[in-house]
Amino acid sequence: MRRIGVINQKGGSGNTTTVVNLGAAIAEAGHKVLLIDLDPQAHTTIHLGFEPFKLGKSAYDVLVNETHIDDVIMETHVKNLSILPSKIELASAEIELVNTIGREIVLREALKKSKNSFQYVFIDCPPSLGLLTLNALTTATEIIIPIQAEFFALEGLTKLIQTIQIVAERINPATHIFGVLITMFDKRKNICKEVVEKTQNHFGKKVFKTMIRENVKLAEAPSFGQTIFEFADRSHGAEDYRKLAKEILKGDKDEKERTGKGPIKLDKSHNTRNKQKEKRKKS
Ligand SMILES: Nc1ncnc2c1ncn2[C@@H]1O[C@H](COP(=O)(O)OP(=O)(O)OP(=O)(O)O)[C@@H](O)[C@H]1O
Ligand SMILES: [Mg+2]
Repeated sequence: MRRIGVINQKGGSGNTTTVVNLGAAIAEAGHKVLLIDLDPQAHTTIHLGFEPFKLGKSAYDVLVNETHIDDVIMETHVKNLSILPSKIELASAEIELVNTIGREIVLREALKKSKNSFQYVFIDCPPSLGLLTLNALTTATEIIIPIQAEFFALEGLTKLIQTIQIVAERINPATHIFGVLITMFDKRKNICKEVVEKTQNHFGKKVFKTMIRENVKLAEAPSFGQTIFEFADRSHGAEDYRKLAKEILKGDKDEKERTGKGPIKLDKSHNTRNKQKEKRKKS
């Protein structure tokens, strides 16, 4: 089972659009896919046509009430695509879990109990680096960071990378950045080209070859409760997410080839233990 977290705590980066449409493209290719909606805004849930207030149980019950995950996972109208839905009550999970031992790995432990044989799990995260996102980081081994091609795109990325590093060091050594995805790209805008250049300078070959172009159909599809492939199968959005799915399906096998060095080794300056060691040496 490949577990992929789609994370950028900067709001509106394209997390949800990517989780839904990439997940659907991979399901379309014949793989069993689970989408985990860890965002109390429930956008992934809504995007797939569910009305959260009409749902029974949600990810909240799995995290807080220890409900078995298989009792909450639902099939969607898309073949091969299931969802662990979200509801607004998930917003209080962060506070309610505060005194729970192992609160940062509740999702991982719950997923282990699933009897479903999913081949791909995609986790949509809220725009924050709180406990819900931390649970995504400890559950996922591969992280995709969507970056919107706009002015403030790279702000806050250092914090995200540090957090991934700390999780990899302390809880989940397998966690690594699988790829950085440029979203909402418009080749006519100079700012987009600048962001792409800066992102490539920073992340090198970790940046996916596929960029998701700005495409109004991607923004319209959620209000119809449809994936881009149902709503506008011949749009740029559909084309781009299918192309991205191919890159993902090629998978970790290509990791070495793509990066020249396997899972990303983050700059040592991000490594907190190294920083502490250096401090001690100096003193
Ligand atoms: N490639 C695209 N072209 C045009 N619009 C897009 C594209 N990708 C996403 N959008 C739109 O941009 C907005 C933000 O995207 P999305 O909801 O996927 O981001 P997010 O990171 O999940 O945001 P949030 O922080 O609210 O969870 C949405 O209205 C979405 O429909
Ligand atoms: Mg979202």
